[in-house]
Amino acid sequence: MLGKFTYSNPTKLYFGKEALDGLNEELPKYGKNVLLIYGGGSIKANGIYDKVIEILKANGKNIYEDSGVMPNPTYDKLQEGIQRARDAKADLLLAVGGGSVCDYAKAVSVSVNCTEDAWDKYFVRFDDVSCKIVPVGSVLTMVGTGSEMNGGSVITNTKQKLKIGHVFDENVFPKFSILNPEYTYTLPKYQMVAGIFDIMSHILEQYFSGNDDNTSDYIMEGLLHSLIHSSKIAVQNPTDYEARSNIMWIATWALNTLVSKGKTTDWMVHMLGQAVGAHTNATHGMTLSAVSIPYYKFIMPYGLDKFVRYAVNVWGVHPQNKTKEEIANEGLQNMQNWMSEMGLALNLTQLNVTEDMIDAITKSTVIMDGGYKILDEKDIKNVLKASL
Ligand code: NZQ
Ligand code: ZN
Repeated sequence: MLGKFTYSNPTKLYFGKEALDGLNEELPKYGKNVLLIYGGGSIKANGIYDKVIEILKANGKNIYEDSGVMPNPTYDKLQEGIQRARDAKADLLLAVGGGSVCDYAKAVSVSVNCTEDAWDKYFVRFDDVSCKIVPVGSVLTMVGTGSEMNGGSVITNTKQKLKIGHVFDENVFPKFSILNPEYTYTLPKYQMVAGIFDIMSHILEQYFSGNDDNTSDYIMEGLLHSLIHSSKIAVQNPTDYEARSNIMWIATWALNTLVSKGKTTDWMVHMLGQAVGAHTNATHGMTLSAVSIPYYKFIMPYGLDKFVRYAVNVWGVHPQNKTKEEIANEGLQNMQNWMSEMGLALNLTQLNVTEDMIDAITKSTVIMDGGYKILDEKDIKNVLKASL
């Protein structure tokens, strides 16, 4: 471990079939006014809404609601949420849903008591929070983003065609998160597998960097083994509790800041995926799966030894009598086979991207510098074209 770091994670987790009982322990810590934030209605259809309302009432809370948070939450909706939280004089923002609802709640949380424009402050200038935050708690219903235990908040500006994430400090992390794997059973298969790929991508963004012998890489290989194993079971039997609970737990650990410790990180797959998302509003995990293999083939020569290690340690490639390139390519082929088995998008055409959109998507792609190769605009264009 050559890097220096500090590590702390303040989110308290309640995990398992009875996890919602944790709300009874948490709610008394906050004031009367709770703003319940949720999406387009899945929590009403599957009964989670009723259970949460019952507990809020039993704890004597004044319940206010902000519903209709869309996948890939927008800046327009954020402004509405900020106003609702102000009107409610919210003491707690309770996000019930997936990463979109949780991310959105964090963006509201840091903006309620702020006079500046939230988009300019956090998603253009990347300023630190300078006003009092309203605490966030979450009840997670969709697995993948890790938003339940991190400071990430990704907002889409539809007019500017930009989808930008701000990683906030630990005081913005959810104070608590309720993780009941059974709550994810009603997810459509498309969303389940998109979430599974989001998890894999989070791990790989942090794995493909650096050359030192780093414990974080070993932890990530363990998480990947568990993810590949459980995903194959879940895709056949979505109500297999063991598999769904493992996937939920891996998602949290894939992006709760632990595995990046002592490393630089890449995040170019996410930058490409977010740019695609800004132009298509496609499901986050699918935008990542559509560009991943072409991106990794492109950077492989710059981090060849790590790709060999990935092939052998994660995808079980036997290295005897093969060149490094052959081993690394076989690893990516095994990854692609698994992606097909999951039913993931394997190209951008499946997400309605056409060749004439490539220039604009390239312009919306933020360039990061922590991976094995810093891409320039031409590289980005080439990777996007290879992904069509
Ligand atoms: O809106 P409802 O009706 O609730 O339906 C949702 C939504 O349509 C549905 N859903 C969620 N739980 C369900 C369910 N349907 C049936 N049963 C359930 N139990 O699933 C759909 C997708 O939900 P969403 O929250 O959008 O998915 P996800 O958790 O993948 O979140 C995606 C957002 O998170 C951002 C993405 O960019 C995207 O905006 N990310 C956040 C990160 C972070 N905070 O660190 C990192 C990620 O890389 C990612 O960028
Ligand atoms: Zn992601």
